[in-house]
Amino acid sequence: MASIAIYSVKGGVGKTTFATNLAWCAAHNSSRATLLWDLDPANGSGFLLGIDPKKKRSAQSVFERTHAAQKLVRRTDYENLDLLPADESIRTLDRQFDRIGKRKRFVKLVEGLAKDYDRILFDCPPVLNETSAQVIRASDLVIVPLPPSPLSSRAFDLVVEEVRGSGKGHPPILPVLSMVDMRRTLHREAREANPKWPVVPQASAIEQCAVERKPVGAFAPRSPGARAFAQLWTAIERKLAKA
Ligand SMILES: Nc1ncnc2c1ncn2[C@@H]1O[C@H](COP(=O)(O)OP(=O)(O)OP(=O)(O)O)[C@@H](O)[C@H]1O
Ligand SMILES: [Mg+2]
Repeated sequence: MASIAIYSVKGGVGKTTFATNLAWCAAHNSSRATLLWDLDPANGSGFLLGIDPKKKRSAQSVFERTHAAQKLVRRTDYENLDLLPADESIRTLDRQFDRIGKRKRFVKLVEGLAKDYDRILFDCPPVLNETSAQVIRASDLVIVPLPPSPLSSRAFDLVVEEVRGSGKGHPPILPVLSMVDMRRTLHREAREANPKWPVVPQASAIEQCAVERKPVGAFAPRSPGARAFAQLWTAIERKLAKA
């Protein structure tokens, strides 16, 4: 099993879009048994997969260990792809972790899922606190979406610091230029400055994911957006194989 965090300290950079589309690629293109674990109380991943929250069990109970993670897992419309949804109850997840006082609680929860899945992806909230520290500790790779702007470069520096600070054997980081529009000078410059970073273009098909409530590969498989995520997923698998 390999675990992949889609993470940035900055909001609105494409984390949820990456997480759902990459999870779909893992399940569909690589036929991996895949779990997408939504850690953002806004429940964006569930929304993009067309799954509405159930009232009964709350996401918080998984972290308290009052419910097994497996009990909250939802099947999606896609073969090999499951979702562990988020809800309002994890709005103060960092404080919950602090109160529980176990630095490896999340690592242990992920280990408990390893026999059921080949790939687990985390859709992270834009935070720099105990939640991000726990998620990084449990990740084999950290993907950071970066729209080309000085603000997101700053956010990237913070992520690098946070990941490196998580200790020896910290996971590798893969920065990905996100929402790139090559007609714009700043975007072209960002591309030229970082020629090795993968790119996900600004694309109307990707934007449409939130309207269709489907991964882009499921409704526009030939679009540039779908192709970009497929290529990015291949690069991720290659990186995991090398690790
Ligand atoms: N490559 C893209 N092309 C066009 N629109 C995009 C692209 N990536 C993301 N978006 C749009 O940008 C917005 C923010 O994306 P998303 O919700 O994935 O970001 P996020 O980092 O998860 O945000 P948050 O920090 O609020 O969780 C959404 O409206 C999404 O549809
Ligand atoms: Mg999000």
